[in-house]
Amino acid sequence: MKYAHIIGWGKYTPERILTNDEMSTMMDTNDEWIRSRSGIGARRWARKDETLADMATASAVAAIEHAGIVVSEIDMVIVATATAIFPATACIVQDRLGIPNAGAVDLVVACSGFVYSLAMAGDMVKAGSKNCVLVIGVEKLSPMMNLEDRGTAVLFGDGAGAVIVRGSAQPGGILASVLYADGSGGDDLYLNDKRHLVMNGREVYKFATRAMPAAAKEVMSKVGWRSAQVDLLIPHQANIRIIESASKVLGIPMEKVFVNIEKYGNTSAASVPLAICEAVDQGRLRSNDKTILVGFGAGLAWGAVAIVWDVPHPSSKTKQVLNRAAYNGAKVRSRFKRALRQLSDKLSNRSDKK
Ligand code: UT7
Repeated sequence: MKYAHIIGWGKYTPERILTNDEMSTMMDTNDEWIRSRSGIGARRWARKDETLADMATASAVAAIEHAGIVVSEIDMVIVATATAIFPATACIVQDRLGIPNAGAVDLVVACSGFVYSLAMAGDMVKAGSKNCVLVIGVEKLSPMMNLEDRGTAVLFGDGAGAVIVRGSAQPGGILASVLYADGSGGDDLYLNDKRHLVMNGREVYKFATRAMPAAAKEVMSKVGWRSAQVDLLIPHQANIRIIESASKVLGIPMEKVFVNIEKYGNTSAASVPLAICEAVDQGRLRSNDKTILVGFGAGLAWGAVAIVWDVPHPSSKTKQVLNRAAYNGAKVRSRFKRALRQLSDKLSNRSDKK
């Protein structure tokens, strides 16, 4: 039997921190309202010239280093993002990292995107169709904020988090998942024609307080865990009140729930992987911990994953050096392939004219 373990994790957060006080210089809001209604104290905004792929790649490099693998081991790249662009960010990441033999796809399930991607990566690895999957959650939501809509603009931020999921014979890792959608609620949270995020906050709030505990309960019952056995719940960071409500319904005390919404706000698909990285850094996520990840958001979509957290993988200096060479080589390889394509285009045009 094959298992799927998370063996590496990494994050990237843009440098620019926007506090609530700074938001209140841009619109009619204040720190007290934002904190008491959402739990948010600040958020990160990416630079204008900082792309989704830049952020995704930075988090991926950190995860690869942590995992102690060489990039060529990766055979699939999944990028969860609500900031959908074309071509897929996953393809740009694959090219930038010089991953030679991998499929690459973007998954657009907004705030549930990382949980969906992780569940699918786990299933691919367990089924044997892939063995080493790079899963990234990344968002650049700041340009989608309508500064005239204070109910939404204060909530969201930018960032990226990545994990490496690899096959192993050792029991544990990603054990089970549940994934759901209800497209009839699509107009409660969407991107309008001006590419501004529009949200019916009250409706999404009601949905979230139902969906989050329901998904967590179902995945717990799939793996046979009672609430008292769960070591850490890592929920999507949308609103501290939603998280506290879920903690109550599930009977998992807040001491066993990871929260970092105060620092980053709602980073959509990036929120769960960012939380994973910080939970590990703070010693809140340890070997053999029974962990539940839950996501919910636009779609409407929601889901949960049950994981037994893996033993940390030692990173290898030699592999780091090999990876750095691969990243540098990737730029050259990409340029060479582009030039080759142009040349073959010219040659075929010439022969067509003859
Ligand atoms: O990740 C995707 C999932 N998204 C979510 O989970 C978001 C779910 N929804 C929420 O988190 C909450 O509904 C919000 C935080 C968006 C809003 O909290 P609320 O307690 O539902 O506030 P509200 O929308 O009912 O607004 C209450 C009042 C209104 O004023 P009146 O009409 O009572 O006079 C708003 O105009 O607060 C006002 N308000 C603000 N005041 C200061 C709304 N936004 C702001 C603001 N600053 N930024």
